[in-house]
Amino acid sequence: MPPWNYSNQNVLVVGGTSGINRGIAEAFAAAGARVAVASRQQEKVDHTVAALKELTTDVMGFCADVREPQALNSGVQSVHQAWGELDVVISGAAGNFPALATQMSANAFKSVVDIDLLGSFHVAQAAYPVLRKPGASLIHISAPQAHLAMIGQAHVCAAKAGVDMLTRTLALEWADQGIRVNGVLPGPIDDTEGMRRLAPLPEHRQAVIQSVPVGRLGAPADIARACLFLASEQAAFITGAVLPVDGGWSLGGAATIGAVLGESLKSSSDS
Ligand code: HXC
Ligand code: NAP
Repeated sequence: MPPWNYSNQNVLVVGGTSGINRGIAEAFAAAGARVAVASRQQEKVDHTVAALKELTTDVMGFCADVREPQALNSGVQSVHQAWGELDVVISGAAGNFPALATQMSANAFKSVVDIDLLGSFHVAQAAYPVLRKPGASLIHISAPQAHLAMIGQAHVCAAKAGVDMLTRTLALEWADQGIRVNGVLPGPIDDTEGMRRLAPLPEHRQAVIQSVPVGRLGAPADIARACLFLASEQAAFITGAVLPVDGGWSLGGAATIGAVLGESLKSSSDS
């Protein structure tokens, strides 16, 4: 029996069809919530919906690119029509690839900012009209790049720093409606697309493990537990916070990723 009870609550996880966000969707489903997931690829949506149906009774999915507000709005409306007001929205769609700032096109920089930052804004705008007032909770998925500069991550650093400020601003703007807005900042999470892109080789993974103060990589369940807490009544006085769930990595060790990327990106740009 999970410690949290989210039965009768409506949860939407944007970007919930793989990795960390899918782990979050599974945790809310295991806690009895109605869970909807959204992302771009129909196949990923279908697989996730099928897997979540093993955990809870009411599950939905829709396809939308967070860069396209119309598709997002109509997906959010379809969840609202089916289940009513949303209690929890997790906003975690993101894109990342390693590239030096001098070697990425303006469109490459823009595509990450558009997905992570503008996409989070679109999710917030689509969700706001159908959030339960009072009581709803919006949680953004941040990253160490939000406050730690990293070589090869200019686009992600700029975008995720913006996401954290969006979290704080919306927390202020929506507090009088009884809506809380927080962020969760994951450390390096094992077996995820993010880690595969930034630390692709076994030696990179090992270097990352050694740079985490608690001595291990995280799991999606570590991040999911923080979301279950932040969205709950237990966190009723918490808004505008960005909670690191990273084994202490963002205190400094996360710079290892920048060093690893710097070495490989600079040596390939010299050759
Ligand atoms: C340089 C690149 C590039 C690369 C793409 N581009 N990959 N530039 N190096 N490796 C450029 C393209 O040439 C293009 O610019 C522009 O970026 C847009 O590329 P598209 O492929 O057209 O974009 P799109 O199909 O919209 O895909 C978005 C994407 C893709 C971000 C590029 O990788 C994606 O969909 N990612 C989602 C999954 C993901 O990244 N998950 C990890 C999240 S982890 P031009 O000028 O040619 O048009 C994370 C934090 C991890 O966020 C932290 C770990 C510690
Ligand atoms: P992931 O598996 O690639 O998850 C990204 C999710 O977002 C997928 O469901 C993807 O599905 C969806 N998505 C991507 N672009 C989208 C778009 N334009 N519109 C709608 N959906 C989109 O990555 P992950 O590594 O688990 O990362 C998940 C979150 O955690 C991200 O916010 C990331 O920044 C953050 N994070 C990750 C780590 C880590 O160690 N992995 C560390 C810190 C922070 P589709 O392809 O179907 O769209």
